[in-house]
Amino acid sequence: MSTEASSASKALPAAAGVIVGLLIFGGLSLWFGRPFIPTTNDLPTVLKEAPQLTAVAMAANAPPAAPTAPGEQTFNTVCAACHQANAKGIAGTFPPLAGSSWVAQDPETPIRIVLAGLSGAVEVSGSQYNSMMPPPPGLDDAKIAEVLTFVRSHFDNHGAAIDAAKVAEVRASLAGRAAPWSAAELSALRPK
Ligand code: HEC
Repeated sequence: MSTEASSASKALPAAAGVIVGLLIFGGLSLWFGRPFIPTTNDLPTVLKEAPQLTAVAMAANAPPAAPTAPGEQTFNTVCAACHQANAKGIAGTFPPLAGSSWVAQDPETPIRIVLAGLSGAVEVSGSQYNSMMPPPPGLDDAKIAEVLTFVRSHFDNHGAAIDAAKVAEVRASLAGRAAPWSAAELSALRPK
């Protein structure tokens, strides 16, 4: 191929490119009614909204949000292992915390159960259980207050919040007791 032919073969597409460019510029200038120099106003709305759209897409793709309610984390990692994530328990084995009168009435009863455990026959929402709950290890007063407040305000329960001071008070009243409660003992201690 001669040098002339080769530079012509390069010049042609370049010229075509310039012409196409001019046509686009002319077309857009006609469209916008003035020489077309892009500004953000000319961008289609969807492009202007791109950052928001990206944020929405990222949120939709994000992993499930970490638990936000205080106590939810403790519930999920400790209590749910037995009482299940929906707090409905397992028939005959783990009683429900959802709608349980042991959970959501006086604050002392559920605090006593979490501090020292519960063993033997117990009736929960009309069903009988006869098992044993050891006190979950590693929960300080604040964590117990949080998890009980969470359980008492979720799963169809409507019990008042419990603070760490209340847990400390009940802990002190145990005077070092470590043996799990029986349901009869707990019932006798309940405010009438
Ligand atoms: C290792 C399994 C296990 C874990 C963990 C556990 N429980 Fe229990 N829980 C039981 C069993 C079993 C019973 C019934 C004991 C019985 O039959 O005497 C029970 C009973 C209860 C009761 C009284 C009955 C009822 O259903 O209302 C409450 C309240 C309770 N648990 C709260 C909790 C809370 C709050 C946590 C988490 C901080 C927790 N439990 C963690 C096994 C567990």
